[in-house]
Amino acid sequence: MEFSKRMNLFGDEIFAALNEKKVALESEGRTIYNLSVGTPDFAPAPHIQQALLDAARDPENWKYSLRDLPEMLEAVCAYYKRRFGVEITPDQVASCNGSQEGCGHIGMALCDEGDTVLLPNPCYPVFIAGAKLAGAEPYYYPLVKEHGFLPYVADIPEDVARRAKYMIVSLPANPVGSVGNPALYEELVAFAKKYDILIIHDNAYSDIIFDGAEGHSFFNTPGAMDVGVEFFSLSKSFDVTGARISFLVGRPDVVAAFRRLRGQIDFGMFLPIQKAAIAALTGPLDMVKDQCAVYQQRRDALCGGLRSIGWNVPDSHGSMFVWAPIPERYATSMDFCMDLVEKSGVLCTPGSSFGPLGEGYVRFALTMPAERIAEAVAAIRDSGILN
Ligand SMILES: Cc1ncc(COP(=O)(O)O)c(C=O)c1O
Repeated sequence: MEFSKRMNLFGDEIFAALNEKKVALESEGRTIYNLSVGTPDFAPAPHIQQALLDAARDPENWKYSLRDLPEMLEAVCAYYKRRFGVEITPDQVASCNGSQEGCGHIGMALCDEGDTVLLPNPCYPVFIAGAKLAGAEPYYYPLVKEHGFLPYVADIPEDVARRAKYMIVSLPANPVGSVGNPALYEELVAFAKKYDILIIHDNAYSDIIFDGAEGHSFFNTPGAMDVGVEFFSLSKSFDVTGARISFLVGRPDVVAAFRRLRGQIDFGMFLPIQKAAIAALTGPLDMVKDQCAVYQQRRDALCGGLRSIGWNVPDSHGSMFVWAPIPERYATSMDFCMDLVEKSGVLCTPGSSFGPLGEGYVRFALTMPAERIAEAVAAIRDSGILN
């Protein structure tokens, strides 16, 4: 069978190779500290679980939903008001099966073959896959140490900006752990207006932000609604990653196009999941804040711990990730990852899997309790890999 040329656009799944290594070492009886994949280890709050269980008992809720329940759309609007102080209306909200799926498909609603799109490098890989599926040509804008791992639009060439259709911005950032600020967002809005570019803000980590900083919506920036949409995922804030709950929020024409595109391939979110989403959005938010404090303790255990053993890893400012420069003697981040897990049992992700500018770094996910992270740090120290 000759598969489509499109399939040649995608490389092998990096996590599969890492998992193979993990399984092999575990079969030898080795302890593995898995800080590779960004799946939270927390449980969803009881009221969210209960809403899903109650709804699942009603056979009516097992039918195609075919639409977003009006009360779920209202719940998103009320949440935006409560959490971000932003007024939106239900026509500005459309569900998707997680931001991953949404980012994978939105390009098809926006781009024609050969259109230019602006993507961060390094970035969350589906940004690239979504652009390629749409036939768009990515222009990668760098997220580098010199600019605090933040977008720097002044460096985007004028001719590229003129032909760009959309720009994805995602802060707090996976994998680099940088966070936005109002001046940066204002600059992005001005840039988008000047060149008629749609900003797609992927806001997966607005509730995991450290050292007293506040996580915002893109729409806290004046003028953002004229130029942008935002993926608003419940996955990380509410520990519901497997339930696939996310929304595209913002400019009504873009949301309508996205809804229309998805209407061709999806019959709607499972109704018990819609009920769980409503419970999460309308329920108490103290757990979300408490959880952020726990992530910060883990960040301190990892970054502080690694610095104390001689690895100069800067503090992450937000997201559930830490971005660590690898020792200079390693040619690639993949080589270092494999050597690290072999020698210490600590599994992380090579930076190169997030784009070429990720080379020279590895990403750790803060998905274990601080005490266990401290054990992982001790295992790295005892392995001698830093010497
Ligand atoms: C930047 C970013 N966006 C989106 C997602 C996925 O979100 P969802 O679970 O809503 O698909 C992740 C998950 O790791 C992420 O890091």
